[in-house]
Amino acid sequence: MNVENRAEDFVHRLDAAAKAVEDKLDALLAPGPLAGEIERPARLLGAIRYSTLGGGKRLRPFLVLESARLFGFEGDGPLRAGCALEMIHCYSLVHDDLPAMDDDDLRRGRPTTHKAFDEATAILAGDALLTHAFDVLADSATHPDATIRCNLVLALARAAGLGGMVGGQALDLGAETARGALSQQEILTLQAMKTGALLRFAVDAGAILGRADEARGQALSRYGAALGAAFQIADDILDAEGDAAALGKRAGKDAERGKATLVGLLGLETAKARRNALVDEAIAALNATGLGSATATLAEAAQFVARRNN
Ligand code: IPE
Ligand code: IPE
Ligand code: MG
Ligand code: MG
Ligand code: MG
Repeated sequence: MNVENRAEDFVHRLDAAAKAVEDKLDALLAPGPLAGEIERPARLLGAIRYSTLGGGKRLRPFLVLESARLFGFEGDGPLRAGCALEMIHCYSLVHDDLPAMDDDDLRRGRPTTHKAFDEATAILAGDALLTHAFDVLADSATHPDATIRCNLVLALARAAGLGGMVGGQALDLGAETARGALSQQEILTLQAMKTGALLRFAVDAGAILGRADEARGQALSRYGAALGAAFQIADDILDAEGDAAALGKRAGKDAERGKATLVGLLGLETAKARRNALVDEAIAALNATGLGSATATLAEAAQFVARRNN
């Protein structure tokens, strides 16, 4: 397969996974209460479904599916774990867009959740998605082995919380009003937390589900971390160069808000070189798994992160 065919094949695979994720999310966010729940309030559920369904690249669940497949684990378990991660991601976007945070009106080509509903409902929709993600992971349908489920819960908690995504969001907001500019290392840490941690969890989840041996799990984790770093630099480049029609969100907002980014610190060309070097680093980590051509789709995913236009 030549480069263009591989890229096209990748987009088809991502698309197929996105459809499966959409259907599963739809089912997991149905109106009927589960055992132990009392009821699911219609307006809140409406906001949750609005925030979660009908948009997004679904890259994170795709990475869960593909990394679990590397270790021979396919089916409903990885799909559920991918949906749990997508719930956390969607919650992070709903809260990220709130007036108290990035104050954005457009997301995935539609009004942000607090615009379509109201701020309190958007906060609660995020809260409920966060909790529901752990419900999905803890359910025996995700994996019959309780130890595996517990390891997934622990890894996601570490990736999403204080020392991961939420902590990174705090550093991101703190940087807006910091007296001096952040150093390159500080920006890399902030981005590894706010974005890298969830992307790395995606591949860690696949390794946990597939009971990968430690060396392979660690190599895959290095791939996830490099891909995550490349992903946020690409997001910052798109913010500087892209347009709202393609992005489905407003462009030019990072410079306007004084966000700490590598684009702001080093300029666009250096940021692009860093992004590309991180893609190479991600692919080198895949090669270190020793799994050969089985990792081709994940290698394509790393290339996709750099060439995407939304
Ligand atoms: C956007 O993530 C937020 C960042 C972490 C930069 P995505 O670009 O994956 O957003 P969707 O899910 O495709 O909308
Ligand atoms: C968002 O980063 C990261 C999280 C939501 C955790 P950004 O603030 O750059 O994402 P966009 O550009 O609004 O999608
Ligand atoms: Mg933000
Ligand atoms: Mg934002
Ligand atoms: Mg951004």
